[in-house]
Amino acid sequence: MSAVQDFKNLEDGFLKFARNHFQYIKSGSSRSVFRISKRRVVKIAINQIGLEQNKVEWRISQKKQNWPYITKAIYKDKNYNWVISEFANNSITNTKVNKAMYNFGEFISKYKLSVDLEKPSSWGIKGKRAVVLDYGAPISLLQKYY
Ligand SMILES: Nc1ncnc2c1ncn2[C@@H]1O[C@H](COP(=O)(O)OP(=O)(O)O)[C@@H](O)[C@H]1O
Ligand SMILES: [Mg+2]
Repeated sequence: MSAVQDFKNLEDGFLKFARNHFQYIKSGSSRSVFRISKRRVVKIAINQIGLEQNKVEWRISQKKQNWPYITKAIYKDKNYNWVISEFANNSITNTKVNKAMYNFGEFISKYKLSVDLEKPSSWGIKGKRAVVLDYGAPISLLQKYY
């Protein structure tokens, strides 16, 4: 079996397994992200907020009309310890972000999300499009924890 298959079958020890088998990309305040294949990453929760953000990204990804705007989550752990999502190259220029920003107003207000669109790290390139890769924080979640 492949490392990805083995990972999906884990009950715990997600981070340790990922460190040993996958290429580390980066961590945010609530998740650590690893590349698992050419087109996929796994986002592993490192605290309670990470679990909730994975859940939100999963739910939004279930709605087909949103796929052009985001890196879609494709698989999840039953407790949202991780989601497997589309990879998006995180080195993105300002010009591309500025063009794409226009599309996101509606998306963000629909789900009452708090996405820091000014931050280049919120963005990636999927195919030829600029997409948001860190969209798991609704305003309600921030009010609960901060
Ligand atoms: N789908 C993705 N493809 C490539 N890199 C990603 C993806 N999602 C996140 N990353 C990288 O991992 C970092 C942390 O992920 P992020 O979603 O911001 O987690 P957090 O919820 O902790 O802020 C991002 O800044 C980005 O560099
Ligand atoms: Mg982040």
